[in-house]
Amino acid sequence: MLYAFELESYLEGLLPERPDLLQEMEHLALEETIPVVTPAVGNFLSILVLTQKPKAILEIGTAIGYSTVWLAQAAREVGCQVTTVDMNSGRRERALEFFRRAGLSEYIMSLAGDARKVLPTLAQTFDFVFIDAAKGEYLEYLELLHPLIAPGGMLVADNVLFRGWVVPGAVFDRKYEKMVQTVRAFLQHLSADPRFQTTVLPFGDGLAVSIKK
Ligand SMILES: C[S@@+](CC[C@H](N)C(=O)[O-])C[C@H]1O[C@@H](n2cnc3c(N)ncnc32)[C@H](O)[C@@H]1O
Repeated sequence: MLYAFELESYLEGLLPERPDLLQEMEHLALEETIPVVTPAVGNFLSILVLTQKPKAILEIGTAIGYSTVWLAQAAREVGCQVTTVDMNSGRRERALEFFRRAGLSEYIMSLAGDARKVLPTLAQTFDFVFIDAAKGEYLEYLELLHPLIAPGGMLVADNVLFRGWVVPGAVFDRKYEKMVQTVRAFLQHLSADPRFQTTVLPFGDGLAVSIKK
């Protein structure tokens, strides 16, 4: 087995208990099958922000705001703001309510719309970017994001191992074939992209962590 669900629950068990609000969001995501990062990935994003100390964070794919809360808690510590984009207005409304309840609203700028339309309108640069939206659009996001990422800035992309199915020889239902090929193509492209230095971390659903040269 290439993708160890057991590993993820073991890693989750090592984490300190999350605040009630994060746990409520985890339960909601589970109940409604809303795909959010695992707690171990949320914790890792927080560690990256705390060590990288970015001036501005951008997230593509807010959903109900679970990863945003992890990012924004760290952003508050280092004194920056998270800009987060989602095209699903219902999810975004719920995210806004969670941000308010977490006392994090002032650290989060929530933008509504398709990232492919929103990104070209952004005037500022970002030195920490988290991509977690439509897997089939990652290559498009990458090109739109490149001019927005400051040199030395960090780019993190979620789901790049897609349950381990991107690994040649992995066994999976053929209905996922196109998605697997798309994610594999993105990861190969990013890994070979001379504008970035990239590593892949095999936990959660696979994270690509890149630095813009
Ligand atoms: C995997 S969920 C995000 C989960 C969130 N990052 C978390 O871990 O809590 C993906 C989200 O991306 C949004 N999305 C998909 N394509 C998008 C696009 N082109 N522009 C903006 N949002 C998009 C979906 O509406 C969905 O809420």
